[in-house]
Parts: sequence; structure tokens; C-alpha cells
Amino acid sequence: MATSMDKLFVREYERKNGDILRINQCEIGDVGCVVWDAALVLCSFLESAYFLELCDGTVYGKRAIELGAGTGIVGIQAACQGLDCIITDLPDFVQLMSLNIETNQKLCNGDIKASALQWGKDDHLYHSPDVLLLADCIYYEESIEPLVSTISKLSNNDTLVLCCYEERVTDNKPVLQSRFFELIKKNFDVQKVPLEKQDPFYHSDDIHIMIFKKRR
Ligand SMILES: C[S@@+](CC[C@H](N)C(=O)[O-])C[C@H]1O[C@@H](n2cnc3c(N)ncnc32)[C@H](O)[C@@H]1O
Repeated sequence: MATSMDKLFVREYERKNGDILRINQCEIGDVGCVVWDAALVLCSFLESAYFLELCDGTVYGKRAIELGAGTGIVGIQAACQGLDCIITDLPDFVQLMSLNIETNQKLCNGDIKASALQWGKDDHLYHSPDVLLLADCIYYEESIEPLVSTISKLSNNDTLVLCCYEERVTDNKPVLQSRFFELIKKNFDVQKVPLEKQDPFYHSDDIHIMIFKKRR
């Protein structure tokens, strides 16, 4: 079972305007059932002036999809900012994501829904969004190629892909990360968001926010 909804505990995240997101996490379940640090870094980046600049000055009416959303915190934050967002993960996570949408619905200014999207399999069910969001998804050996395939299929030339990940040095993680970027760079220009353009509090030397733009 990927998530057990029997025992939940709440992670609070304070938005810059003082609103508090209340994110339910599961005591028992796979890695996605808690909020990861890369998700917090990406959440805070979505409130930055630089993100607004990347969105040509407005986020209202823009469509976002979050991949591997886990609890859904990043997509919920995007919807609070005014984007219309579909948060996705494996089918077992839809219940947790839906609960978190319901819990935070009043703070959302854009439309938001939770949906299943298995990388490499379900891409055809979705249209290309304006913004594609990923936090800590470069993690699974068996999913590197399906993940790159989904990012490629969901992106058009105008899609802004924001991929935030924690650089890990243990086990096979460095190899996975190299393989992921090797594949991504075949079709995308890749750029790193400098630390000074990130949130002064929610940032870290080993958590990177990468921007991918599909080459024409
Ligand atoms: C490390 S967790 C990160 C969760 C969340 N983005 C965060 O940062 O808090 C990675 C997520 O990717 C999802 N995932 C793994 N393999 C997947 C696949 N093949 N298709 C879709 N989602 C997948 C997991 O279920 C999990 O929620």
C-alpha cells in the first residue's frame, strides 16, 4: 500500500501573506506521503518575483501540472498563487492529494484537482500546461526514462518546466541524476535558478531549482 490514511499528521507551511497551508501526511506509506524539503523550496520560489517574471508578469489563468506531487503541497501553493493546477501522482496518492486540496481549498485562487498520472503511461490524457512542476522526482532508477518521456510529451515550446531536486551523494543517486540530465538535455535547454533569486529562508546549497525549456 503506497499510503495509509489511517494515521495522519499535519505539516504547516506559512505563505508570505501569513496564510497557513495545512498539509496532511501519512505516518505509514511510501516516500511521497510526507512533504520533502525540495517541495518547500519550490513552494517558496512560486512566490518569488523571479517566478512572476518567468510567467511574463502574470500567473492568473495559467495552467500548471505537478508530477509526482505526493501530498500535493507544491500544486496547492501554485493554486493559491492563482494558477489552475492539476496535481498528479500514482493512483494510490489521489486520496491524500484530494484530502489536502479539500483542507486548503479556501486559500486557492485558481482551480485545482487531483488526478492519477503514471510517468511514461498516462501522458496522453493531459494537455501541455504553461507550467510543469516537479519536486524531488529524480529518485527512482526504474522511473528515470518514463519521467523524462512524460516531461517531454507534456511540454510544448512555451511550457516552463520547474524541476526542484535535492542533490544526493549516497547509493546510486548521483548516477540517476546524471542519467536524468543527460536525457533531458537531448530536448531541453537547462538552466539553474541562482540562489539569490530564491527565497532567503527556504533555500539550500544542495537543493537546486532547474528550468527546462523545450528546444524548437
Ligand atoms: C520523493 S517523492 C516527492 C513527493 C513530493 N513531490 C514532495 O517533494 O514532497 C516522489 C514522488 O514521485 C511519485 N512517483 C514515483 N514513481 C512514479 C511514477 N512512475 N509515476 C508517477 N509518480 C511517481 C511517488 O509516488 C512520490 O510521491
